[in-house]
Amino acid sequence: MRKQIAAANWKMNCTYQQAESLLDDILNNQISLRKHQQVIFAVPFPYLIMANSEVAEEENYFVAAQNCYNKPSGAYTGEVSAEMLQTIGIHHCIIGHSERREHFNESNTTLAEKVSICLENEITPIFCCGESLSVRDTGSQNDYVENQLKESLFHLSEVDIQRLVIAYEPIWAIGTGKTATTAQAQEMHAYLRSVLERKYGSLVADNMSILYGGSVKAGNAAELFACPDVDGGLVGGASLIAADFISIIKSLK
Ligand code: PGA
Repeated sequence: MRKQIAAANWKMNCTYQQAESLLDDILNNQISLRKHQQVIFAVPFPYLIMANSEVAEEENYFVAAQNCYNKPSGAYTGEVSAEMLQTIGIHHCIIGHSERREHFNESNTTLAEKVSICLENEITPIFCCGESLSVRDTGSQNDYVENQLKESLFHLSEVDIQRLVIAYEPIWAIGTGKTATTAQAQEMHAYLRSVLERKYGSLVADNMSILYGGSVKAGNAAELFACPDVDGGLVGGASLIAADFISIIKSLK
């Protein structure tokens, strides 16, 4: 079975003290994960080392950065490189979240560079894609998301593409409380898998985890994750409430 993943995206939330106790509250629950299940906490940069030491003893729990820069090193004040992440023991990084695309003008081309630089540094990119409401209203969401994959991922080899996790996050569902229906999520996930299959073949496509993101909650996670092509979730708001995220972890297939 391909990996089923509950990924928490804390965004720019929590003080250091809150971050520590949120992690403690979740980890103290000692949810035993099955072999194919993973939990990933994408925390703000200043908390990466602390969070990584908290999960160090836990099987199948990981910590992710929420972004990194598309250049290896140099005069880029304020940026964080993939190599820096690797050297502090971080092996996952969210790439291309819609908030970064919107507020920081990240283009598909820049994201292609970020994906490559992560892989060069043994970091698994959690690559986000997804359409806005205006795109969905015109019915062109499939083409739109396919193009995001083409422009940012299709330079990768058959081996490297499988080192990625993909997260489909319709922008109209992020932080809005408006979740995609299971039918909408399954339809897009199946479409993304077919796009991967056309380019890389069915073995590769079947092997890749595609997470759903956008108002995943304790109350809807099980239903969404039950869709055959939905391999878990990337969770914002609900990942900041220990009891809710625990319930979301327990909803993994
Ligand atoms: P949300 O955020 O769960 O708060 O909608 C998801 C995300 O942006 O990754």
